[in-house]
Order: sequence, then structure tokens, then C-alpha cells
Amino acid sequence: MNSPVDINPAIEMNYPIEINPTTSSRIHEMDFENIGFGKIYADHMFVADYSNGKWKDCRVIPFDKMPLSPATSAIHYGQSIFEGLKAFKAADGKAQIFRPDRNAARLNKSAKRMAMPELPEEIFMNGLRSLINIDMDWIPTVTGSSLYIRPFMFATDEFIGVKPADNFRFMIITCPVGPYYIKPVKVLVADHYVRAVIGGVGEAKAAGNYAATMLAVNEARAQGYDQVLWMNANNFEYIQEVGTMNIFFVIGDTVLTPELDGSILDGVTRSSVITLLEDMNIKHEIRPVAVSEIYEAYQQGLLKEVFGTGTAATIAHVSDLGYKDTNMTLPPIEQRHIGNAIKQRLVDIKTSRVEDKFNWVYKV
Ligand code: COI
Repeated sequence: MNSPVDINPAIEMNYPIEINPTTSSRIHEMDFENIGFGKIYADHMFVADYSNGKWKDCRVIPFDKMPLSPATSAIHYGQSIFEGLKAFKAADGKAQIFRPDRNAARLNKSAKRMAMPELPEEIFMNGLRSLINIDMDWIPTVTGSSLYIRPFMFATDEFIGVKPADNFRFMIITCPVGPYYIKPVKVLVADHYVRAVIGGVGEAKAAGNYAATMLAVNEARAQGYDQVLWMNANNFEYIQEVGTMNIFFVIGDTVLTPELDGSILDGVTRSSVITLLEDMNIKHEIRPVAVSEIYEAYQQGLLKEVFGTGTAATIAHVSDLGYKDTNMTLPPIEQRHIGNAIKQRLVDIKTSRVEDKFNWVYKV
């Protein structure tokens, strides 16, 4: 069996990290049997600052509130991007992280689009490693749980004029999490709001992309749905993504997912699922997917599965799809052979229960 990749085999130290551990751990407050999602944070956080064209002051410090000027430019103009990844404990008790290299690269792609500075991969990887090492005990081992890792970067200029900022902060915080969706998700197809347009920032993991979805999600909730399936902006004919996850459909024996066109997040889980579909010889097509095609397949009894993919969501089955006046109720979860098989294979790879033939798992 392949062994996990070392998170940073040749540890460069162009950016030394100062470690300042907490004197009062909060881990005893943590109920690992009832974790939830995103409310309790591990003891430490990683911080690095950017000014005068340089990243500096890399540090691991106790997780805490931080003073910010009310004029902080990210708050006003939204130069703010983030990532999401997860750490797991393998059977040998060691921590491992799923595809952090992809997150490091995607952060920089988002940074470029949002006129923010790129972050050296060394800071991303060594920051991750230092933080996971110091908060190793916060990685839960209950089935379905993990340590969610949230790297993010935001503009820190204290300036109200509109311009690309000169000062930024990069941080990583972590929190033990259970499943993001505790039951199959009900998704409503958007018919008047849009999330992203070609040429916009839809492919960046920018905070504003999530803000753009909130009103529509509220309205979907009022109709009994959990999330919105975003459509292309000019005619609402082609499917984009769900906002919290990319989307896959199984029609007959073929899996479909929208191609990346600049308006859709290039999800790490999406890309891993596509690789697994290839590996498992499951027929799949990555191309524009029209909502009319999905509806027709449903009417013909051919729509077998719909599932979302994301770091937080993992593989999240969709139970219902609301489109115009129809609610498409999908087959029971036990019959979701493809989604279930992919979900199991991914968990097994992440926790080293099966061979990691793609070298996706990095040990800490
Ligand atoms: C993730 O899956 O990591 C995300 O960033 C999506 C967010 C809804 C939690």
C-alpha cells in the first residue's frame, strides 16, 4: 500500500513560525460524541501578515478574538477569500490531511482573481502542519467526524477609499466537525437570483460568493428546501453548483456533472470524485448539463441519483429537487449505488483504510 505523502518533505524555513502555546486548553469542554459543525474551535490559530510586498510574522497563537479597525477594508469591500479542508486520524493514531496541495493552489488562484497577494506554499503547508501538530488531540475519531480546517485571507488596510488593498492577513483556524448535512438535502432550482456569471468571481472561493446566496437560501427554506441549485445567469437553462457543494446526477448508468466554465468552484472533492469514477470504470460526462435534461430523465424514471460534493458536505445525497411547480423526489438512499460507493471509497482513502493510489493523503 502507498504510504501517505509527507506534508512537506523538504522543509524550507524561509518563513519561520513562532509558536506561542495556550496555557489553558479548552479541550475538556469538547463533547466528541455531539460535535455539530463550526461552533467550537481548537485551542490555536495560525496567523501571517502581509505588508510592503512581503509575508512575515508567521505565528501559532491561542485562538482568540482579534482587534480590527472599523475601517478594515475587507469588511467594506470584500477582498476576502478562504479554503476548506479536513484532517483525519488514521488507525495508527497519526493525523493526515486530504489533498492540501490543491487547497494551497486554489487559494492562490482565488487571490489572483481578487487582486490579493499569493501566499507561498511553504507558509500554507508549514502553517497547517504546526497547527495540526499542536492541536492533534482535537481531531475527532467518531465515524463521520474530522477536524475541519479553515484557511482564509483578508485585506487589512485601514482605509475607506476603494482600491486594491496593500495589507493582508492570512490565518488558519480549525474546528472538530461532524457531518455538514445530517440528512439528505432538499434543493430548489434557482429561477430568478443568480450566484455567478461568466467573467465574474464564481470560480474564486471568495466570501462574497457566499453572501450572494443567502437571500435565495432563506427564500428556499421558506418553501421547505435546504439549498439552492444555481443556474447560468443569462437563461437559467444550465446547471452550475449548489454554493456549498458541486453537483452530480446519475441518469441511467451515466454520471453527469457540469464542466468548469469559470462560474463554478473547482472543488477538490469534485475533482477527486471524477478521478474515482474513472478508476471505478463508471460512465461519466463532464459537460454543460441542462436542467430540462434532468427533468426529462426524472419523468422517464431514469434519474437515479443526485449528490453534492464538497469538503464540508463530503458526498451529500439530494432527496428532493424542486423545479418550477414540480418536486422531484429521488430514489431512497439505499438505492444510491454510485454515490454510496464513492462516499465509502473517499472515507476509506482519507483514513488510510484502503490504498491511496493517487497520493492524496498527506501525513502531518
Ligand atoms: C467547504 O466545503 O469546505 C466549504 O468551504 C463550503 C462551506 C459551505 C462550508
